Amino acid sequence: MVQFRNIKGTHDLFPEELKTWQMIEKKIHEIMQKYGYGEIRTPVFENTELFVRGIGTDTDIVNKEMYSWIDQGGNSLTLKPELTAPVIRAYVQNQLNKQHPIHRLYYFDTLFRRERPQKGRQRQFYQFGVEAIGSPYPEQDVEIISLAYGIYKNFGIEKMEVKINSIGSSEIRPTYLALLKKSLQKYIDDFCNSCKLRLQNNALRLFDCKNSQCQEILMEKAPYIFDSISSDDHAHFIDITRRLDEMDIPYVHDKSLVRGLDYYTHTTFEISSSSLGSQDALCGGGRYNDLIQQIGGKSTPAVGFAAGVERLILAIGGMKTLESSIDIYLITIGNEANAMASNIANELREKNDNIVILETLRRSMKSQMREANRCGAKHAIIIGEEELANGMVIIKDMKTSKQVELPSSDIIKFFNSKS
Ligand code: HAM
Repeated sequence: MVQFRNIKGTHDLFPEELKTWQMIEKKIHEIMQKYGYGEIRTPVFENTELFVRGIGTDTDIVNKEMYSWIDQGGNSLTLKPELTAPVIRAYVQNQLNKQHPIHRLYYFDTLFRRERPQKGRQRQFYQFGVEAIGSPYPEQDVEIISLAYGIYKNFGIEKMEVKINSIGSSEIRPTYLALLKKSLQKYIDDFCNSCKLRLQNNALRLFDCKNSQCQEILMEKAPYIFDSISSDDHAHFIDITRRLDEMDIPYVHDKSLVRGLDYYTHTTFEISSSSLGSQDALCGGGRYNDLIQQIGGKSTPAVGFAAGVERLILAIGGMKTLESSIDIYLITIGNEANAMASNIANELREKNDNIVILETLRRSMKSQMREANRCGAKHAIIIGEEELANGMVIIKDMKTSKQVELPSSDIIKFFNSKS
């Protein structure tokens, strides 16, 4: 027999783990909404060209990591590897700019990248994130950074580092890239094969290489893009750092932080945690003032970040086994009692908001009681043949083992008084 297995780098999530996920999702929705962000959901796949144009041809994501295919109609499609380009596509397509001058959008979604799986790195993973579209001012960058920082604080994560940088506007890019190439050309033979190509085609992407020899050359010989930015961009950056100081958000200025996607301009930032191991980036983001125009919209400034959900779970110490939330296990003996119990279960769910499980395996009374214990139910309601005949039920408090007998018509009232 063939044994099917999940695809490498993907994972199944089961009810116990999903309780942690649901807790996280709930908190994220609450925090985002407190900052005035509204949720957006985009399709799971898009035209490949959107990502090529948005993220950039020489990036690792577009070069090596996208799940792309040609569909039956001959269109090249891609499972989304990130969410900024799809959100901006939706913004442009639906002309959201005509509704308001500013849009604050957030998402919680699943993504796909064909990376080498390891702790904190999957091929299917989840992100939450935000995109604030419309404001060019430093206060918008700071809102985004403090929102990201605030989320991790809210989850009790203390050991984190905020790194920020500015890569300036796209106008300074050609001059900087020429300088970078000139400084590194003589070391071309010492670079890995990918970096040899990067140096020719898109030299900023050299900073994405993980090869230690390439890193060493860059550290020693490459000029920082920050040292080439304009005075306006410099003032924008200083304004951000001043505001972060005022908000007591600690950060380090990392001049080598350029981030691996081509759409960034001005601010780039990452929050990392030493508790994560080699994949230490909790989240990353920045400004992208040219992307909207690049994919067919009117030039509009924007800034955002995205965060890995699996990495947040690792940082909070893994999946927490939360207390059982089952209120009542309905133990029934015989078909008739079970049929009547379905109505009781529904009434308890609807009127009292109780979480109720009704036996469907026709087990013995003893096994059902064991099951009620196993699933952590707070109460068991027992309806046997005798109780059915008398119109009575037995209610057992599973913690104290105390039992009461009452008319079945009083069940709702009984549990209502408990909540
Ligand atoms: P990114 O740095 O590619 O940025 O991803 C953001 C975060 O997603 C990372 O810091 C990490 O926590 C998580 N992540 C990335 N790849 C994986 C993976 N293979 N497995 C698990 N987690 C992963 C972006 O995606 C940009 N769209 C962020 C942004 C939004 N910039 C502006 N707006």
